[in-house]
Amino acid sequence: MPEKTASADRHPDITTVTIGTRQIQARCKKLGAEITRAYEGRELMVVVVLKGAFMFASDLVRHIDLPMQVDFLAVSSYGDSTKSSGTVRILKDLQKDVLGKDVLMVEDIVDTGLTLAYLRQMLTDRHPRSLATASLLDKKVCRKVEVPVEFVGFEVANEFLVGYGLDFTQRYRNLPFIGVLRPEIYQQHPE
Ligand code: IMP
Ligand code: MG
Repeated sequence: MPEKTASADRHPDITTVTIGTRQIQARCKKLGAEITRAYEGRELMVVVVLKGAFMFASDLVRHIDLPMQVDFLAVSSYGDSTKSSGTVRILKDLQKDVLGKDVLMVEDIVDTGLTLAYLRQMLTDRHPRSLATASLLDKKVCRKVEVPVEFVGFEVANEFLVGYGLDFTQRYRNLPFIGVLRPEIYQQHPE
């Protein structure tokens, strides 16, 4: 008998479900185990990049079996549009110093790489012991700058995705799956 969770991956504004709820959850579990092994014997400073990474981070850290602190950075790189402006604004900085810490940044998606490159430089300047990134999604084909992404959930194609933290005009972040919006929805908000 099909499970309820699979049939719940639906929303009237979504045309295609790119990554389903169960697939995301299974990947979080595996990535968490991989990160646990990679940092064995260390304490992590998890830096969640808001807003997009909030849901991924909350699921991922449950599967990381290490002592850790969690801190938050809020950045804005797109305004409310679907195109990268290349400008990163820090809306909220970290509360804790990362000096000498093993820092793991948690991102929702790396697209052009401009946001991550900027944040990596900003944190490197604060002299952590190590710095790595876990990103749920990687739009590798869209990269404009070379930037390392040590832990990747899924590689995705060049299309605008929403759900599981990812937004369009600040909406759809609450969906438990990732998908593509109906074209009419984008056309209603030309930016
Ligand atoms: P980058 O600077 O171009 O790598 O963009 C990174 C940020 O752009 C991500 O953290 C997201 O907030 C946003 N972004 C990029 N692609 C998408 C997408 O397909 N859907 C929603 N947000 C996206
Ligand atoms: Mg982001």
